[in-house]
Amino acid sequence: MELSVRVDSEFENDMLDIVRAFYPYIKINSESEELYIKTKLDKNTARIIINYSLNNNIQAEKSDYHTENSILLQETEEVLIKRKAKRFFKNNLYKYLSLLCGVNLPYGSITGVRPTGLFYQLEEEGFDAESMMVKQFFVSPDKARLISETVSNQRKYLKKRNDDDIDIYVNIPVCVSKCSYCSFPSSELKYVKNLMDLYTEKVKEDINFSLKTIMDKGKKIKRIYFGGGTPTSLSAKNLSVLLECFKDINYDEFTVEAGRADTVDKEKLDIISKFATRISLNPQTFNDKTLKRIGRLTTVGQFMETYELAKKYSLNINMDLIAALPGEKFEDFEYSLKKTIELEPENITVHTLSLKNGSDLKNNNYYDFESKETEKSLNCSYSLLFNAGYFPYYMYRQKNCIAGQENTGYAKKFPCLYNIDMMEELSDIVACGAGGISKRIFSGGRHERFPSLKGIKEYIERFEEMKTKKINFLTL
Ligand SMILES: C[S@@+](CC[C@H](N)C(=O)[O-])C[C@H]1O[C@@H](n2cnc3c(N)ncnc32)[C@H](O)[C@@H]1O
Ligand code: SF4
Repeated sequence: MELSVRVDSEFENDMLDIVRAFYPYIKINSESEELYIKTKLDKNTARIIINYSLNNNIQAEKSDYHTENSILLQETEEVLIKRKAKRFFKNNLYKYLSLLCGVNLPYGSITGVRPTGLFYQLEEEGFDAESMMVKQFFVSPDKARLISETVSNQRKYLKKRNDDDIDIYVNIPVCVSKCSYCSFPSSELKYVKNLMDLYTEKVKEDINFSLKTIMDKGKKIKRIYFGGGTPTSLSAKNLSVLLECFKDINYDEFTVEAGRADTVDKEKLDIISKFATRISLNPQTFNDKTLKRIGRLTTVGQFMETYELAKKYSLNINMDLIAALPGEKFEDFEYSLKKTIELEPENITVHTLSLKNGSDLKNNNYYDFESKETEKSLNCSYSLLFNAGYFPYYMYRQKNCIAGQENTGYAKKFPCLYNIDMMEELSDIVACGAGGISKRIFSGGRHERFPSLKGIKEYIERFEEMKTKKINFLTL
């Protein structure tokens, strides 16, 4: 099914984000003007015009409509005028599309990755952010409360950015097999096994020169995160080589994404526990049929064995779950969540399936899910976790998330500070390894990014070129 949309606006992408939020599975083209959106910002006056004349294929309460709305913005600074105009345009378009479709979206007109970011911004502007999100941004009261609680929990741990703090991210983009929902750029181990020793050597060098450059500038390493992919796909020996790089560093948190149970054993846990404070061991679901269906090649039994082993170490354990996995109903997710809660990990992260470009599910046109079941799963996750003593501490949204839901990290006592830093941009991030993206934030809010080389082979072959550029970036 297709929808023709013409947008005449300097905020074209924002307008299209709203349209896509209502029609996530419909192809949008610009061949004609079934939906026409025009915005105009003239000095302090923002005006929006929306026309629609839809064909019969599209779900809509009305087939023809025209609306116009304008506002006088009480601001003098150009950035504030633009910010407020954009909000006005998005809120108006949301309102009319919501009427047209007869649908309310859980996050209303918020289309960005970080709903908490808007919350902080509204508070800085002096508003009661929670109620404003409901009244003006059309966020459901439950989601506005989730955002508000997440922000207030974050504040108990991390209040503001410190320009001298650095977090280190080490990327190991390798997995034992590809899960059907995943679009992370990671290689299957069987194709890169012979490159792993050399890759490890290069990542070690990357970590060492990055640490030296950072320390020479008098910065402090706060948090370290080994992610991917699945870092535990590395052999125990290679994992040890990389972890040892941090033996003389004073950090306050160190996470290793241990991901899949089939990549973790006692030898690796012995090494990891010498350095790490936290691991992520992810069931995703407690249903063997689903695990097979999503190509994860592990079983619930294997997960339980690894968990029993990991529990013996003094590591905080996080467990990732995904709601709306293929073939699963609300009851399946509820079962997995209850099982996870029974195991009492320190952190539980509830994801909602997102149909990502490049994933097998998306490539195979998978649309066999029910939005209502997903909504129920997410609502249930909040209340079950709350009753079990968990609090939400970070959250983010992804495009094409089923039923417009979100991903939320919950903790009992110790939230993952790296996750908060990263999501709320409270610390610069220096990324090592193929595919990592370093990020620096300068005074005045200017962001600069340095993406490393993506593929493992390319990273090894062009390492020296990357090293020179990265040192320049780190010493800016
Ligand atoms: C970077 S992945 C790596 C985790 C690790 N390799 C594993 O599979 O356990 C982090 C988490 O993102 C979630 N995730 C990945 N792709 C997703 C998708 N398409 N929709 C929802 N959640 C997703 C999964 O819960 C996964 O554990
Ligand atoms: S979910 Fe994890 S194990 Fe699966 S493909 Fe993605 S990164 Fe690899």
